[in-house]
Amino acid sequence: MHFDTVIRHGTVVTASDVFKSDVGIIDGRVAALAAGLADADEIIDARGLYVMPGGIDSHVHLDQPSGPGIVMADGFDSGTRSAAIGGNTTVLAFCMQEKGQSLRSALKAYHAKAEGHCHVDAAFHLVITDPSAAVLGQELPALVADGYTSIKIFMTYEGLRLRDDEILSTLDAARRTGALAMVHCENEDAIRYLIGRHEAEGLLEPRYHATTRPIAAEREATHRALSLAEIVDTPIVIVHVSNRQAMEEIRRARERGQKIAGETCPQYLMLTAEDLDGDALEGAKYVCSPPPRDRESQEACWNGIEQGVFELFSSDHCPFRFNDSEGKSNERGKQSFRWIPNGIPGVATRLPILFSEGVVKGRIDLNQFVAVTSTNHAKLYGLYPRKGTIAIGADADIALWDPDQEVVITNDILQHGSDYTPYEGLAVRGWPVRTLLRGQTIMQDGHLSKATASGIYLRRTLSSLARNCAETNSV
Ligand code: URP
Ligand code: ZN
Ligand code: ZN
Repeated sequence: MHFDTVIRHGTVVTASDVFKSDVGIIDGRVAALAAGLADADEIIDARGLYVMPGGIDSHVHLDQPSGPGIVMADGFDSGTRSAAIGGNTTVLAFCMQEKGQSLRSALKAYHAKAEGHCHVDAAFHLVITDPSAAVLGQELPALVADGYTSIKIFMTYEGLRLRDDEILSTLDAARRTGALAMVHCENEDAIRYLIGRHEAEGLLEPRYHATTRPIAAEREATHRALSLAEIVDTPIVIVHVSNRQAMEEIRRARERGQKIAGETCPQYLMLTAEDLDGDALEGAKYVCSPPPRDRESQEACWNGIEQGVFELFSSDHCPFRFNDSEGKSNERGKQSFRWIPNGIPGVATRLPILFSEGVVKGRIDLNQFVAVTSTNHAKLYGLYPRKGTIAIGADADIALWDPDQEVVITNDILQHGSDYTPYEGLAVRGWPVRTLLRGQTIMQDGHLSKATASGIYLRRTLSSLARNCAETNSV
């Protein structure tokens, strides 16, 4: 058999196996897994490297409106460039519905922002902020049938949050259509009350972002989201879980028989509220929601990954520039933490951090690493088995991983639009040396190797978690 590309002498890692094999690629797909493949236009020597499915980051914010005068640091070009640097081959970004806007018109705008600019493949979650009868009854079923098979709803942020009755009607519609619902769980009323109290007392520095969004506000909202999902019998994903109490809510809901997925992120393993405590505005670099907590919460999130409470390890990449009047250092943000845009960059550092801190330090094995960074994302968001594994017929989306390469993370190597990384100076072991997207090398040794952005939009099938609950099965 003649191949376009053969990856030779590597160790293939999937969510279930680790084995020595060459990988033969034809027309962008894996065509053979065997020893001794040699007849190819291009031979890549992967001796000493792991050959892993490219990372799938299912929680990435790109080119989203973020309030008056605030500009997100990454569009689809720089955000997906940075994703490729970090060994990813697919991102799932958010398409944000504005109040009164149809989902179709929001999608049109996001497709226009993304198309022709993506260096990795991409798809959109639909953020529903205005769950009108037309949106839930007509648009959502049609869009799910068209391959937009996941939504996100917020319980916090004025202007985005849904009331409980709106959450119920949205989850009910999600179940009927087979859309998988991601839920951001924080109690907005409690947070607003605490923000008011802090401001009245003159407590305005970035560190008070953390004290106005306490664990109890996340735990309560997580419990409520799970209860509302139970009432309408709908599977949900609890996203960006930061602490043990919220995690235990997920565990208990599963024990009751609910279909729930859990997600955590690097910031909840690596940062604490003390990082928000820097000199002057320095703490603004770490402002995200939910906020990083404490060492005990970090340990809990590790336990959640190790024990499978969290199937998903995502970046929640939501980048703003620090030294920028349209970013973290905006004039109002200097006056009060409440105006510091929420979010931190992380799409390039997600995989190296989990590999170094998780695999190298013996907390998780290679299979778990692949599962929580790629395979489970593909299964839960309707991309499997095309994406998320190395198998005959799958897209040849591959990260060649050097387990011994030592890198000190610095902002300049990440190629995102932000002017900082929260992980500056962190030494990691294990790094992606080459990324292939559908058989084509898109990144090698820290350089994007194609001038044109070759990522495509991905139409998705129903989630493995939601598909059996759907009343129709049109995709
Ligand atoms: O602070 C964060 N996480 N910003 C991104 C928006 C979100 O809630 O995911
Ligand atoms: Zn969120
Ligand atoms: Zn997010």
